[in-house]
Order: sequence, then C-alpha cells, then structure tokens
Amino acid sequence: MLECAVRWAVPVDEPQMRALLDGRERDRYDRFLRPEDKARFVTGRFLARTVLAEAAGLAPESIRFTTDCPHCGGTHGKPRLPGSDLDFSLSHSGDRVVLVLAEGAEVGVDVERESDRDIDSLAKMVLTAAEREALAAMDDRRRGFHAYWSRKEALLKATGHGLAAPMTSIHVSAPDDPAAVLAWDGEAAVSPVRLADLTPGPGYAASAAVLTDRPLKITETFFE
Ligand SMILES: CC(C)(COP(=O)(O)OP(=O)(O)OC[C@H]1O[C@@H](n2cnc3c(N)ncnc32)[C@H](O)[C@@H]1OP(=O)(O)O)[C@@H](O)C(=O)NCCC(=O)NCCS
Repeated sequence: MLECAVRWAVPVDEPQMRALLDGRERDRYDRFLRPEDKARFVTGRFLARTVLAEAAGLAPESIRFTTDCPHCGGTHGKPRLPGSDLDFSLSHSGDRVVLVLAEGAEVGVDVERESDRDIDSLAKMVLTAAEREALAAMDDRRRGFHAYWSRKEALLKATGHGLAAPMTSIHVSAPDDPAAVLAWDGEAAVSPVRLADLTPGPGYAASAAVLTDRPLKITETFFE
C-alpha cells in the first residue's frame, strides 16, 4: 500500500501566509491582477509549505521549492522539495485548493470547477475517439468531460509535463467506472500508474495520479 495524503483548503489571502513566500513567489503573487488568483496561489504555497514542513520535520519558513522545467530549463516546472523523497502536487480552481503528498513516488493532482466551456471543441483536444463516443452517451456531459480532464491532467502533473504533452495520447476509463489508465502512448507515457478520483464536492471534478504499481491508500482531510 502506498499512503497518499490529500489536503483540501479554501483560498484565503492573509499576511502570515504571504510572509512565507520567497522572493520569486512574491513577485508572482504581485503580478496576479485578480484577488482570487492571488488567494489561490498564496493558499497553495502555504498549504504545501505547512504540510511538507510537518512531513519532513523542517520549519515552514526554511522550505524552498524548485520549479525547474526539465524540457526547456525555464522556471515553470513541477514544484519540488529538493533533497527529499517526498513528492507533492498542487492544484486550484474556483473555491478549491488541493495538495497531494506521497513518499517515494511521483504524484499529481488536478481539481477542475465544472464550467460552461465549449465541451465539443475541447473534447477534440482532450479526448480519444472512444472517450468522445462514451461522453456523447452520457446524460451529464459536463460532469463527464471534467472527470476525464481531471484524470488526464493529474497524470501529466505527476510526470511534470503538464499541458505540454497531448491529452489525446492518454486513454482513461469512462467517468462512471473506477479511474484507470487503459492505454497511453507518446513521449510522456509512463508505466505503472495508479489513478484515483477524489471528493471535491458538487460542481467540481478532482483526481490524483501516482507513478507506482502499489495500491493506493488515500486519506482526504480538510486543512484549517
Ligand atoms: C501544470 C499546468 C498543467 C497547470 O495547469 P492549471 O490547470 O492552470 O492549474 P492547476 O491549478 O491545476 O495547477 C497549478 C499548479 O501546478 C503546479 N505545476 C506547475 N507546473 C507544473 C508541472 N509542469 N508539472 C506539475 N505541476 C506543475 C504548480 O504548483 C501550480 O500551482 P502554483 O500556482 O502554486 O504555481 C500548466 O501550468 C502547465 O501545463 N504548465 C507547464 C507548461 C509547460 O511545460 N510548457 C512548455 C515547457 S517547455
């Protein structure tokens, strides 16, 4: 069993949270124009610092994340805690911020607020032909589409590719079936992987992905 801790938070923006940001994070915070984007960002980094500090036995203010992109050398890559066997992933959408943490395996998480985006156009960029067919047969296509999306994005966040890799190369199980990768080809593909749907509450889809063959033991808690 691989233990996987999922912590949910509501975005807020408080001085003691901003105080923990390092210089580069503070610059990013300052560049966000909308208060809700600032809150999601600062809450995510606060959540990550607090949870990782506890797990690694460090002081939250001593934690520095790296965000190197292995593909281009830029600084927009997956945040990591250097020198640690702990891996984590963050996601935020609407009123939800979520972190997933595991030791000894790469993890990814994605939460998506279900929105009125143009599902038919997006489906062509995100889903395989078989998935589009399954989606067309669903009563609630909006829920189905976001379930597919969050499963695939969680996987690509576990590998660190993010949206730089094509989602159409991943074939996942249908939204009402247990989350699983059925097939994955292309450069980003890895195996073995485990996928799990999370419980973000009504109006949201959320999934976690772990690059392991061990069964997952997922514990979801609310961070206060
Ligand atoms: C990662 C990514 C998919 C996030 O998409 P999103 O739906 O807007 O946002 P989410 O809320 O789900 O996730 C954002 C979080 O993912 C994390 N993240 C950023 N880049 C990541 C990556 N490459 N892999 C995994 N996680 C990443 C960060 O913690 C970020 O939160 P932050 O605000 O604290 O920095 C998207 O930003 C992306 O694709 N980035 C990579 C772009 C890239 O690689 N371009 C080409 C490089 S050459």
